[in-house]
Amino acid sequence: MMKGSGGASGSAAGGPARHVPVLLAEVLAALAPKPGEIYLDGTFGAGGYTRALLEAADCRVIALDRDPTAIAAGQAMVAEFNGRLTLVETEFAAMEEAVDGVFPGQGADPVLDGIVLDIGVSSMQLDEAERGFSFRFDGPLDMRMAGEGESAADIVNTRSEAELADIFYHYGEERLSRVIARAIVHDRKETPFRSTKQLADLIGRIVRSKPGDIHPATRSFQALRIAVNDELHELASALHAAERLLKPGGRLAIVSFHSLEDRIVKVFLATRSGRGGGSRHAPVQGVAKPTFRIEGKWPVSAGEAESAANPRARSAKLRAAIRLEAPSLPLDPQVIDLARLPDQHPRKGGKRR
Ligand SMILES: C[S@@+](CC[C@H](N)C(=O)[O-])C[C@H]1O[C@@H](n2cnc3c(N)ncnc32)[C@H](O)[C@@H]1O
Repeated sequence: MMKGSGGASGSAAGGPARHVPVLLAEVLAALAPKPGEIYLDGTFGAGGYTRALLEAADCRVIALDRDPTAIAAGQAMVAEFNGRLTLVETEFAAMEEAVDGVFPGQGADPVLDGIVLDIGVSSMQLDEAERGFSFRFDGPLDMRMAGEGESAADIVNTRSEAELADIFYHYGEERLSRVIARAIVHDRKETPFRSTKQLADLIGRIVRSKPGDIHPATRSFQALRIAVNDELHELASALHAAERLLKPGGRLAIVSFHSLEDRIVKVFLATRSGRGGGSRHAPVQGVAKPTFRIEGKWPVSAGEAESAANPRARSAKLRAAIRLEAPSLPLDPQVIDLARLPDQHPRKGGKRR
């Protein structure tokens, strides 16, 4: 099933399945909520993490989601927690503005005791055919979490063959990216792409699969979703904002579902904690005055029982870190680079596939 958050969701008969939070106990252990503390949940979704925080301690949560339907559905929880939960419809890259809205004048100051992100799509988004995220249902080729801006159909019908190939290869790690891009550009001259089935059928004719393999369109749909929602830039910006917003001792917990996201989180936190690392070809230099400390197992993955009960958990990785006293640092160019498609890199001359 899809590597992004919200893969197989076990849709209940008669309606979309409720999102089952992944690595919930591990996330709570990393955040260690205490009474009087202030948390930010950047990916509210069905509110699984937010609820767990509010129930674990008499704390306060500012929860964000760019999807207006998630915010509308969360209003009942706002009422239930009696002033301890504030919901804001916005992107998590804009978390400083959101915090500033709740605590005016303090948006750029470190006011938070914990921040959590659970990257990707929710089961509700995947299971609603009209949102256009899934190749399992026929729906409009949309994929916009916020319901505005460029849709997947806009990208598929207007981008050049080279750009499409880059999106499928870089964001989806799809080996047949160029063949798929060529077929799209050929077919769209006759009939522009409008539906998920139209695109999934075309990819199904190109990518061979054996019984038991993931659906042939999995990687390409993931790639389009990342491009439509600018997911990697969102993550890179949010990590830097989290560094500015967390108090010394504040906890950061990021759950991601595929290697591109995890690499961004890993490089950012390895660098900021002074650990360094990376590969011989792409060494990562740790900073002199670390802003984060990494403790314990890193990353944390789901255990067998959770993976068996919830297939989405199989690819989940939690990376947590604790904010230190050192002042926040400028943007990490390696992290910004990791969020870019090759053609968007300022340095040219890299080999094109
Ligand atoms: C995997 S779900 C989160 C599920 C949640 N942890 C729970 O327990 O119910 C991801 C949610 O984050 C939202 N989201 C994804 N990217 C976002 C972004 N850049 N800014 C704000 N919300 C985002 C999606 O709309 C979706 O509702």
